[in-house]
Amino acid sequence: MTIECPIYYEEESAQHWIDAFARQCPHLDVKDWQQIERPEDAHYGIVWRPSAEFFARFPNLKAVLNLGAGVDGILRHPQLPDSVEVIRLENAGMGAQMNEYFAYHVMHYHRHMDRYNTQQDNAQWQVFPGIPAKDFRVGILGLGELGSSVATCLQGLGYTLCGWSRSAKNLDGVKCYAGAEQLDQFLGQVDALCCLLPLTDSTRDILNKDNMSKLPKGAVIINAARGEHLVEEDLVELLNNGHLRGAVVDTLRTEPLPANNPLWKQPGLIITPHCAAQSWLQPSVEQIGNNIDAMLAGQRPSGVVERNRGY
Ligand code: NAP
Ligand code: GLV
Repeated sequence: MTIECPIYYEEESAQHWIDAFARQCPHLDVKDWQQIERPEDAHYGIVWRPSAEFFARFPNLKAVLNLGAGVDGILRHPQLPDSVEVIRLENAGMGAQMNEYFAYHVMHYHRHMDRYNTQQDNAQWQVFPGIPAKDFRVGILGLGELGSSVATCLQGLGYTLCGWSRSAKNLDGVKCYAGAEQLDQFLGQVDALCCLLPLTDSTRDILNKDNMSKLPKGAVIINAARGEHLVEEDLVELLNNGHLRGAVVDTLRTEPLPANNPLWKQPGLIITPHCAAQSWLQPSVEQIGNNIDAMLAGQRPSGVVERNRGY
């Protein structure tokens, strides 16, 4: 027996996902959400940033399986029934991509590439003194699937690592801080602040003027979590007044960033188009397929989101 599963992929065709499910999980009949003939029989939805209409169309959902790690695009819906389990993707190739993204940008600043780029624009030839990696302090906001992967990777490259999470953690070689009461202490010793927090009511706007001012002068920010973590006008102010040396943002409050947005021209800011870590087809489909099979067999799937904490 095949199980019909509606799929919803915001603003894009889901055909590549549908084809991958057909290849890897032939017992699941994954179809565009508008082509499901008996919506009342659909129990498992596969989604990326679904619309309110999606939830209205499928009244008997038991679970929605997210095509990404961050579930803010699902939990924001008041129409999401309490009874529906929300299941995230766990890593699915994203850990390795985040390692590369953060290693690349941390090295960019550690090895003065921002300064050499500016020099080249002005045909200048001047060497900046090198700093051993251990003297370049990297702090990770969020030590979950992705943050802990990045912390371990950067530590392996010789950087001095600290991290901040909600609950206390023990990560080899990483000085761990937890909870709001330890945030200031954490921020005070970070040269490169990397954000990999989920977007929740407690983390929205956390990269604000007050918190970013607690970083040592000349620090840099790398945000690959969500645009709503960062107060963009505060970042601009701190870049312009020299408190921050630079910033990288992969996620923005408005995506795509409109062509006329002044952030494109902001000195010291590097923008990438929400590409730090993509959900790779093969591991994502395998994980979602296994989770649906587990639920069909009456077992607990992996990656269930705790709705009351928001991630
Ligand atoms: P995760 O496994 O859920 O980890 C979240 C981490 O944040 C945990 O360590 C958690 O603490 C911590 N945290 C949550 N709320 C906190 C709070 N109020 N104070 C302090 N720490 C808090 O998430 P993940 O898989 O690593 O992914 C992180 C985020 O990356 C996603 O939610 C998504 O938004 C973003 N992302 C972006 C891209 C991209 O391409 N740009 C790709 C994938 C994911 P505990 O450990 O104590 O629970
Ligand atoms: C991407 O942003 C994700 O949350 O997987």
